[in-house]
Amino acid sequence: MGKVLAILGGQWGDEGKGKIVDFLTEKADVIARSTGGNNAGHTVKVGDETFKFHLLPSGIISKGKLNVIGNGTVIDPKVLLNEIQAMESRGYPITPNELAISASAHIIQQKHIDEDIESGGKVGTTGRGIGPCYADKVRRVGIRMGEYATKDTIPSERLLPFVRETYRILNAAIDEGKNVLVEGAQGSLLDIDHGTYPYVTSSNSTAGGICTGLGIAPGRITAVHGVFKAYVTRVGGGPFVSELGSEAQLKKEPSIEEVKRDMGRDGVAQLRRRVLIKANHDDAYNAGRYLRLQGMEYGTTTGRPRRTGWFDAVAAKYAITINGFSSAILTKLDVLSGLREVKVCVGYELNGKSIASFPTNIRNLEKCTPAYRIMPGWEEDISKVKSFKDLPKNAKSYVEALHAIMQIPVSIVSFGPERSQTAVLDPRMFF
Ligand code: IMP
Repeated sequence: MGKVLAILGGQWGDEGKGKIVDFLTEKADVIARSTGGNNAGHTVKVGDETFKFHLLPSGIISKGKLNVIGNGTVIDPKVLLNEIQAMESRGYPITPNELAISASAHIIQQKHIDEDIESGGKVGTTGRGIGPCYADKVRRVGIRMGEYATKDTIPSERLLPFVRETYRILNAAIDEGKNVLVEGAQGSLLDIDHGTYPYVTSSNSTAGGICTGLGIAPGRITAVHGVFKAYVTRVGGGPFVSELGSEAQLKKEPSIEEVKRDMGRDGVAQLRRRVLIKANHDDAYNAGRYLRLQGMEYGTTTGRPRRTGWFDAVAAKYAITINGFSSAILTKLDVLSGLREVKVCVGYELNGKSIASFPTNIRNLEKCTPAYRIMPGWEEDISKVKSFKDLPKNAKSYVEALHAIMQIPVSIVSFGPERSQTAVLDPRMFF
């Protein structure tokens, strides 16, 4: 039997899953997406090339792999077709050998997008029609890919050759000893059941979504690994205990496009230096702004600046429990470079009492305040580092502290967007 490894987000999405999936794709035969739609945005950098995907699994860049879009996803046909055509025009032909789309995946219709734009403001949805499409699925009035693809329109005719019963393909691949890599979308805290409801997406982005969204039985999943950024970001509304600065401050901030337009590329670097000086003088908002500028924390899908905060170990432990993560994959460690000190939220206080677990009631979560463990930061630029042992002492201590707090192994540490900026600490965890 082949291995099935899943890479899921441990926070509120944007953890850098795309890069990790791309990194692990070499030894995978099939790459599959089980949930979500084009609300997701995965950026992968290979050499000088940057790829941004919303629907296609990131395995599409590696030739000779089958990419599966599972039954649990929701598909905007025009967006998918554009993504396929964009890849083809860059020299990546996509045939049914490279892509299979589940006949049972639901179609996002224009009315879903209209409704989402009209009513998604409070939650801060991506406006891609995700919630209304899933709502129609549950109400049993949706249109599925199998039915859609037989219609007489350009997207449906172009997509028809890819439409298959993907559960059969996936299970046959596992039987034949092939390796399957499941690429998660969104993050655990955006899960419709386990996330910070109602500030969540409309699908199960946690481990259960792999089985329902692909038709793979639980016993066939070898391991689920959680991806965590070395800090935390969040897009849209909802509680965020370890947030640096307030949403009101963020709203006043110019977008990165405005900064580049007004100050040029050098201006961004100058701004980052100015912001860092304030951050290192205990200015929480500017510490958050530094993470934003340094980590380019602006949405792939919407371009919105992301809210930023310190690593939240209480939320991380909750995600580990819900998903049964075998290991944590830590990304964007390089972004913390320059900060005089780094903090980890190790506990919450609610109504003057410390609490041990992540509250699922959002009203309680909104009232929680963070208890921090403060650690010394590091000055060095770590983007050229080749292995874990070459990291500055304080960066290593930070990773070791997260390992001790989370109580699961840290299997990969990533310190830059390139494949080469990745240290695998425990290769036995993978294919
Ligand atoms: P929806 O998925 O468009 O309905 O949006 C619901 C919530 O999930 C909003 O707060 C979005 O910002 C958030 N969200 C959805 N997809 C992503 C993602 O890929 N990364 C981060 N946040 C996301």
